[in-house]
Amino acid sequence: MQNIISAAVAACTVFISISAAAAMGRDYQANGYDIAVDDDGSIHMPDVDFRTEWTALGTFSIAGDEEAEGLHVVYTQPGVAQHFRATGMFPDGAVLIKELLSTRTEDLTTGTVSYAAERSGWFVMIKDAKGRFEENSLWGHGWGWAYFDVAERTTPVTTNYKAECMACHVPARATDWVYTRGYPVLETR
Ligand code: HEC
Repeated sequence: MQNIISAAVAACTVFISISAAAAMGRDYQANGYDIAVDDDGSIHMPDVDFRTEWTALGTFSIAGDEEAEGLHVVYTQPGVAQHFRATGMFPDGAVLIKELLSTRTEDLTTGTVSYAAERSGWFVMIKDAKGRFEENSLWGHGWGWAYFDVAERTTPVTTNYKAECMACHVPARATDWVYTRGYPVLETR
């Protein structure tokens, strides 16, 4: 009897390990280094329909006097939010895409409402836990950093993250330079 119980427990443990590995594996199914980074650390937009295939982490609304003047919608790969909830960290290869959208505003039955209109560009961050591209000025502080205009997905507009990104991300330093406060999906409850 004891043996049967131990065998069952062992089988369960193996099953749980396999499930955990499968869940972790999802992080890497769309690993940023496979879909958005070249060997020299150049960054391009991943060729993926992230609006339907990825997790929407949250939206920032840029307030104007009468209406939202812009919306920033942030996406990441499947599995990244689960990894973050379990470990408090973004996995190596996690990609964060912040899509910039203009707005339309109307009086709807709920009130004066602004909603997404045209997209104009994407801010992209790729988690680098290994310091891969020290010589490349798009990389540092644990991330690759780039901004793309909506009309040009292969070459970023930006060339130097220290000059073009860092100063504005200092307020988010304690949360790995990411504005996690805007992403309820990352909270465990
Ligand atoms: C003018 C200040 C400013 C600059 C410059 C800036 N950021 Fe940000 N970024 C923010 C703020 C504030 C947020 C969150 C709130 C928002 O989007 O309004 C944010 C959010 C992001 C996000 C979503 C993930 C997160 O951190 O919450 C990405 C990705 C991002 N920025 C990438 C970049 C990259 C790459 C650069 C440089 C090419 C850059 N940012 C330059 C202020 C800035």
